[in-house]
Amino acid sequence: LRSVEPIHQSFNNMWVVTRYTDAKAILRDSRFCVNKMPNHVKYKSDYLGNFNTLAQAISKWLIFLDPPEHTRLRGLISKAFSAATVKSLYSQIQQITEQLISKIRHQGYMDIIADFACPLPCNVICTILGVPVEDWYKLYFWSDKLSEILDPLKSLEDYEQMNKVALEFTDYFKGLIAQRKINLQQDFLSALIAVKEQNNKLTEEEIISICMLLFLTGEETTVNLISNGMLALLRHPGQMQQIKTQPMLIQGAIEEILRYDSPIQITTRVANQDVLLDSVTIQSGDKVLVVLGAANRDPAQFPEPDRFDITRVNNNHLAFADGIHSCLGAALTRLEAEIAINTLVQLPDIQLLQEQVEWRKKVPFRSLKSLPVTF
Ligand code: HEM
Repeated sequence: LRSVEPIHQSFNNMWVVTRYTDAKAILRDSRFCVNKMPNHVKYKSDYLGNFNTLAQAISKWLIFLDPPEHTRLRGLISKAFSAATVKSLYSQIQQITEQLISKIRHQGYMDIIADFACPLPCNVICTILGVPVEDWYKLYFWSDKLSEILDPLKSLEDYEQMNKVALEFTDYFKGLIAQRKINLQQDFLSALIAVKEQNNKLTEEEIISICMLLFLTGEETTVNLISNGMLALLRHPGQMQQIKTQPMLIQGAIEEILRYDSPIQITTRVANQDVLLDSVTIQSGDKVLVVLGAANRDPAQFPEPDRFDITRVNNNHLAFADGIHSCLGAALTRLEAEIAINTLVQLPDIQLLQEQVEWRKKVPFRSLKSLPVTF
């Protein structure tokens, strides 16, 4: 599609954009806003009416907000993800990684996803927020279910299930917030409760909605980064060996994994006025599907794009999108993946248990079902 019709008109006033330059331009252009509440969500949320905890929560998610509300909320959340905060988490992430590996080191076998890549980011977000880490599996289960909201093909029954999960998540966080109000701690949840900007506190609903979004955006994506990365390295043993002997190559390797098998493959925008894009007019109200995965394999931007190369230069991929909605957790997830992958490649003689892998059919993610290895 990218070489034949890079700005492709699909059905229902939807455009599909696959070239790197167009994708980047759209993500940075204020004439394109976010798809506030995608139609499939609106329809299903109208069906559930007032009992719709999910719709209330997602109405505050950054990914569905435009300025000025987006600017205000993003400003408040950014503090938890500043370079300094992320750097200060290094030893905690290292410790969580060591604990997970020490449980499986003697086994000689593991599923990288279930045994390692899933618990790691969940434990990290729990630590940042100040949520009891022993609850990580419950939070993983909830965020996995809630992330289905991004898939337009889910049914009304799925939506009802998601709404139930949103209710459980909300009740759980109401309990934690009540505890923190009595006794504030040194964690991000307490920081959100204590926030006072222009004498305006965040409401309890806003705080819960922010927490939900952080689990949803920070979990599956990081799992995919670690597991897609290990798959690529196990299939390119020479490059894995290079990382093993020269750990400083890990940063380039993470960027290449993000480009080569981008954990999030698509995002959407809506034109808020007519826009001329390379002789095509996208009309006000039209939707645009920005295919990040295709842009990241565009040969006009990345020579030999299908080649996995951890030493690639000028690797300005769009895996974290671009513009005002670019990923807030980019520094955190890079650090988690660096520590995780550097630890995994050191396992002696780590190898794929089977060559064939299965991908989950979960829009918009690029997720493996499992990744069994021996070592
Ligand atoms: C936004 C990718 C990890 C928090 C985004 C967007 C992308 C993305 C593509 C933009 C969505 C859009 O423009 O529609 C990724 C990838 C990750 C990752 C590939 C891991 C490999 C994380 C982590 C966190 C996080 C660990 C936090 C714990 C967010 C938030 C936004 C966001 C809050 C919304 C920003 C906004 O709308 O202003 N991410 N993400 N992400 N990400 Fe990430």
